[in-house]
Amino acid sequence: KLSPWIAPSILAADFARLGEEAAAVLAAGADVIHFDVMDNHYVPNLTIGPMVCKALRDFGIEAPIDVHLMVSPVDDLIRSFAEAGASYITFHPDASRHVDRSLQLIKDLGCKAGLVLNPAVPPDGLEYVLDKLDMILLMSVNPGFGGQRFIPSTLRKVAAVRQLIDDSGHQIRLQVDGGINEQNIADIAAAGADTFVAGSAIYGRPDYRAVIDSMREALAA
Ligand code: DX5
Ligand code: ZN
Repeated sequence: KLSPWIAPSILAADFARLGEEAAAVLAAGADVIHFDVMDNHYVPNLTIGPMVCKALRDFGIEAPIDVHLMVSPVDDLIRSFAEAGASYITFHPDASRHVDRSLQLIKDLGCKAGLVLNPAVPPDGLEYVLDKLDMILLMSVNPGFGGQRFIPSTLRKVAAVRQLIDDSGHQIRLQVDGGINEQNIADIAAAGADTFVAGSAIYGRPDYRAVIDSMREALAA
């Protein structure tokens, strides 16, 4: 099993001070920056694009940037984000006409690739592209907004996908996104996740280190 990663979602950060906000969670012990991209088409909200990813790199953010595409179509933005310094690029399979081709595009551009499944999407299609996946992201809320409540049925899907990954023998991160906090992170880890996105739970509090520390304690317990 891979070492646990805490991935703060900068969707919940102060966008007027984004560079400092990204640096602050990394200084507080975060492993990776989760970067939520919304297009007002695939999801009913609009956020940030490749220029902002590039700006974080230029600001001096060296940690992995995990770009979660909630956009459709995906291929043009995959190219732009690879150029803008993305490390991981994940997208929703129903947002691309040719999922395998989009995954291959991410790999060809030198980034790590992942698929994202919404709460009601079964894990079935994953098995045919496991060899192209570096990450599988299971949404534990409906995408589009931060600050929503964790959907409990996600835990069963986490366990099922954990089994799929283990049986495959591939090294694939299993990430969960939406409504994660210090209280439920241990249950999500017990189900088999190793990468935990948290937006409001971290940025909604004044002391980022205190939250990240207590998440790590919950994971270690
Ligand atoms: C939702 C985003 C999430 C969101 C998580 O569409 O993909 O990454 O920012 O925020 P919290 O942790 O507040 O649910
Ligand atoms: Zn996300």
